[in-house]
Amino acid sequence: MPRNSITPDKSERTPPSTPPRSTILANPTLPPLPNSSNTPTTITPATTALLEELSGTSQNVMVVVRIRPLNKRETQEYKSLNCITIQSDHELSIYKDSEPKNDPLTRDKQNKKQFTFDYVFGEGSTQEQVYTQTGSILLKKCITGLNGCVFAYGQTGSGKTYTMEGMESDPGIMKRLSQDLFDHIATISDKIDVTIKATYLEIYQEKVIDLMAQKQGLSGRGNLQIREDKLRGIFVENLCETPVSSFEEINQIITDCTQYRTKGETKMNAVSSRSHAVLTLLMEQRERDDDIGYTYKFSKINLIDLAGSERADATGAVGERLKEGAKINQSLSCLGQVINALCQQRPHVPYRDSKLTRLLQDSLGGNSVTLMIVALSPASVNFEESLSSLQFADRAKQIKNKVHINRDPKLQRIAELMEENKKLKEKIAELEAIVAGRLGCTPMKSPSKGRKSMGVGEQVDYDGETKGCCCIVQ
Ligand SMILES: Nc1ncnc2c1ncn2[C@@H]1O[C@H](COP(=O)(O)OP(=O)(O)OP(=O)(O)O)[C@@H](O)[C@H]1O
Ligand SMILES: [Mg+2]
Repeated sequence: MPRNSITPDKSERTPPSTPPRSTILANPTLPPLPNSSNTPTTITPATTALLEELSGTSQNVMVVVRIRPLNKRETQEYKSLNCITIQSDHELSIYKDSEPKNDPLTRDKQNKKQFTFDYVFGEGSTQEQVYTQTGSILLKKCITGLNGCVFAYGQTGSGKTYTMEGMESDPGIMKRLSQDLFDHIATISDKIDVTIKATYLEIYQEKVIDLMAQKQGLSGRGNLQIREDKLRGIFVENLCETPVSSFEEINQIITDCTQYRTKGETKMNAVSSRSHAVLTLLMEQRERDDDIGYTYKFSKINLIDLAGSERADATGAVGERLKEGAKINQSLSCLGQVINALCQQRPHVPYRDSKLTRLLQDSLGGNSVTLMIVALSPASVNFEESLSSLQFADRAKQIKNKVHINRDPKLQRIAELMEENKKLKEKIAELEAIVAGRLGCTPMKSPSKGRKSMGVGEQVDYDGETKGCCCIVQ
């Protein structure tokens, strides 16, 4: 039996007929995909492309690293030096021995470990630069109907919350992406109806807590259950979904909900996050289409600020802080196990061993464009933790997800049938032309929208005018 198993609890009081109020990881209303084996179709190139799109493309988890500046404690108390050197936008090296005599150029190669990532941000990087290379790229993909996930990982005090939440004066990825999303919606609103809903939760000591419900003063949302069904995939039962119609609204939601998130002071970080926080934006897009009414796409964007791994001796944690730290480490260790299992392509991936990994199931190995931001302290005193984070990230970048555009399957099927219909009409017109040619008639114009097709031996009415057929078969 896995630790912390979160198999649905059959004794839950919610009757099965009650539809869940929200979903984190799937759209609640969609019927299953039509069974293509019952509906034989002509495979045109367009249909093939659509089918490929539906079955998904393989995409590696993207990994970027952000190194924060050394802080006062590291330089003054520990007399720490910088143990990380950036070689390029994609490469960095970490040195075990960073005593002053070991100048970066002459450091012993034995002490050096080199890593390559999708991007490496140095201590001078701005919130905007980080967003441009991460959230902005992800959002562009999500707008096409793909699911997306950004999560920040790293030891306590390394800069995860700074990167994801940021400050009011210099916001992080959560707010920048939201701003970008609503700016985008404004440019397409004349042809596409977009609806956005937001959920915000934290996982604190293995309990899923609804931060949005706390903001709205709703009670009883302190230990929500993670469920899974065929139709919706993984979802959190009874999570508050709030419709959002402007950046100002989501900005306020993020600001308010983060106030309810559990934070605490440790020796490593005066504002240490004691929980994993997950902000989810659910986006539905209905594009008006003259032929089939509308086309429908949806996507989920998970923006996750993890709690950091910590050593009790370094954080000085006792009592409740110590207990929190143990739970945080435990769930991060489960995350490590999931990543190991995926990298080694093991048949069993232990997603159910923690709530965090269960919630991240789609983002790691599933249907999501996923980006991991590894936050690092450059201080030599944190060498072991930083090396461990880099090794973790190095494994994570091997994970392949299978991403596909989330469409309404019914409308998807209509689009496919329309495509076939168009091709068949063209084929009929070609055949009619051949038949007419053999019979010595003048080939008729190909039928087009609003006109009747010509049958051999018939007269054809084009736009109300009888053009006549030159050939009557006796
Ligand atoms: N890139 C940066 N530039 C300047 N200051 C930073 C940067 N990153 C982090 N900091 C500062 O370092 C401190 C710790 O950052 P933060 O709270 O984001 O760490 P964390 O990784 O979220 O830690 P925890 O796991 O304990 O929550 C904060 O005071 C923050 O302002
Ligand atoms: Mg934090």
